[in-house]
Formats: sequence, structure tokens, C-alpha cells
Amino acid sequence: MKKILKYILIIALVALVVIQFIRPEKNEGGYESVNAFLEETKPSSEVAALLKSHCYDCHSNQTVYPWYAEVAPFSFWLADHVKDGKKHFNVSDWAQYSAKRKDHKLEELVEEVEQGEMPLPSYTWMHGNLSKEEQKLMMQWAQVARLQYKMELEQLED
Ligand code: HEC
Repeated sequence: MKKILKYILIIALVALVVIQFIRPEKNEGGYESVNAFLEETKPSSEVAALLKSHCYDCHSNQTVYPWYAEVAPFSFWLADHVKDGKKHFNVSDWAQYSAKRKDHKLEELVEEVEQGEMPLPSYTWMHGNLSKEEQKLMMQWAQVARLQYKMELEQLED
């Protein structure tokens, strides 16, 4: 019995070493890609800083990776969050979103932030969460930014 356990342990260790060679692609396209989003939605410098420090890592083409991103299986787990986050909401693709989609994403943003669901809990554990005041600033900015898209949509309907 002891022998079997020893084999299992050795196999697990070898597997752990082998997976270190599989490196998921990094999300490091640079912050220039968020400029169109900033120009349109016009966050204050405070809100812009909060977006950068708490949201862009999963919702833009630029992620600042922590050291453990170099270590599998954390690297896979992080890459998965970034991929999933960008699929739902990517500020780097803002220019390609329709007015309807922009309005809807900002509506979702208000809901997610209000309910404390964004940033993801697994992220706030390492990066800290937004304070109540910061959440409020972010929601106010998003509501104001939505107005331009609502107006655009109304004009389309006329
Ligand atoms: C660690 C990665 C991560 C961080 C950081 C993060 N998100 Fe997300 N976000 C996700 C993932 C994954 C999803 C999709 C799954 C879900 O909704 O839980 C998502 C979904 C969303 C959605 C929903 C889009 C839709 O179509 O339903 C919005 C809006 C959003 N995030 C806004 C934010 C904001 C604002 C912040 C910063 C305050 C933030 N997120 C921080 C990973 C992240």
C-alpha cells in the first residue's frame, strides 16, 4: 500500500513539472486599445484609475500579471478568467460594439458592481475590492455614459 502511494506521489510531481512547459498565451496587447472607450465614456481620472486597477485585467487587451501567473495550474486558471471576461465585455473592442450593445454592457456593469459581483471574488482576494464610495462613482459614471447611447438608439427608432 505504501508503495502505491509513493508511485502516485511521484507521478503527480512529474505531471506538475511537465505542465509548467505548457504556457497559455498572455494578454498583453497594451493600453492604447482602451483609448476609444475612454474618449467615449469619459470617466473622471479617479474612475479611469479604478477601471485600470480593478477591471482591465479581465476586460481589456492588457493584463498585469501577478507572479503566480507564471506557475501552472494558476496560469491556466487566470488565462481562462481573462478569456471569459473579454468574451462578455472587452473595452478594447468598444469601437466595434453597436450603440445597443454598449448601452447594455454599461447596464450590466452597474448591476454587477452594485451587487458586488465584479471584480470577481477570486480577484479581490489578491487585489482588494472597491469601496462603497468607489462603487458609487463607477455606477454614476456608467449611468451618465449610457445617456449618449440611449439618445442614439432613440434617434434610430424615429
Ligand atoms: C478576474 C477577472 C475579472 C475582473 C478583474 C473583472 N471581471 Fe467582469 N467578468 C469576468 C468574467 C469571467 C465575466 C463573465 C462571467 C460572469 O458574468 O461572471 C465577467 C462579466 C462582467 C460583466 C458582464 C457582461 C455581460 O455581458 O453579462 C460586466 C459588465 C463586468 N464583468 C464588469 C466588470 C467591472 C466593471 C470590473 C471592475 C470593477 C470587472 N468586471 C472586473 C471577469 C472579471
